[in-house]
Amino acid sequence: MPQRNLTTTTVGIVGGGPAGLMLSHLLSAAGIDSAVVDNRTRTEIENTVRAGILEADSVRLLVDTGVSDRVLRDGHAHDGIELRFGGVSHRVDFKGLVGESAWLYPQTDVFIDLANARQRDAADVRFGVTDTAVVDITSDRPGILFTDADGALQEIRCDYLVGADGSRSMCRHEIPEAQRRQFFREYPFAWFGILCEAPHSAPELVYNHSARGFALISQRTETMQRMYFQCDPDEDVGAWSEGRIWDELQTRVAGEDGFTLKEGRITDKTVLRFRSFVCEPMRYGNLFLAGDAAHTVPPTGAKGLNLALADVRVLAEVLERAVLGHDRAALDEYSPRAQQRIWRAQHFSYWMTSMLHRLPGASDFDVRRQLGELDLVVSSAAGSTYLAEAYTGWPRPR
Ligand code: PHB
Repeated sequence: MPQRNLTTTTVGIVGGGPAGLMLSHLLSAAGIDSAVVDNRTRTEIENTVRAGILEADSVRLLVDTGVSDRVLRDGHAHDGIELRFGGVSHRVDFKGLVGESAWLYPQTDVFIDLANARQRDAADVRFGVTDTAVVDITSDRPGILFTDADGALQEIRCDYLVGADGSRSMCRHEIPEAQRRQFFREYPFAWFGILCEAPHSAPELVYNHSARGFALISQRTETMQRMYFQCDPDEDVGAWSEGRIWDELQTRVAGEDGFTLKEGRITDKTVLRFRSFVCEPMRYGNLFLAGDAAHTVPPTGAKGLNLALADVRVLAEVLERAVLGHDRAALDEYSPRAQQRIWRAQHFSYWMTSMLHRLPGASDFDVRRQLGELDLVVSSAAGSTYLAEAYTGWPRPR
């Protein structure tokens, strides 16, 4: 066996996205050391376009734990969204209904803030590793084996191992199939996402229902916008010229109020497939799963990143009790506590998705029923409060 450089730490974390880095940051604040590995380079992660909405509590987590307060300067509080259907926009007033806002702050920026904070605190974070394997997960000394970015063989031994390695998680597959249950829902559509050089078309995000399918008008900066429209999962990006994309988007949002999108050069186009997925439990022996490794949601509810942050908040707390308070029973709380929020978010994301998208083969009845539901949501305080509370983030249980 070739010689490996050995590092020992308390918590070994596979995955240096927002979940893994935030966990490492929270543990470090509690005085617990950790090491993080990721097979992507920092540049690769920084150049991946991801979603852009943070719940109020996710913003507070970044600011209050000292990651960064950049979100308060570069992010934008959104006090509501527009639900648009039948060619008319209806505002859901988050601030008025639940006293909270959601924040527009791209996941890439959350990652940059966390990576900078971990670097500032001289944390052990290794990007660009290869040949990662996790070993001995049911023992009291699990390990991560990998080759680092310089080609050196490495081994990290830890007390607890965390798989925060995304939806195609390698760690999840280490849990024997008989020990996990997986819940799935596939959707017969995807999102066609674009980035474009244009000013805002509307002050807030517009979630648009139309006979031709869903469209979302989101934002990035004063001069760059993010938009999506529902498409076939096998849609060929190359078949969509700029002109065709703008025609499709304009047709979907058109209405009697004359609303039109401000167009500009399209700098990025991608088809995003999605599904609803949950793996239970999120723990096997000394291995814990967090974020997309354990669950994914369709993007319509803007919950993915927020759920990942909520997971690691619970995980950091139970690990702290186990490590510092020698209370191993605390670890049993992780999966059930995290899953309560996960299933709420599964429902919310499924609900938003099925209310706003056109199902292939939908009858006129189905479309009229969706319009009835949307009308109820915007005209009833109960309906719009449900949406506002879910979108801005449910309060954390005590
Ligand atoms: C985004 O800006 O990328 C975005 C916003 C809201 C969503 C999904 C994506 O629900």
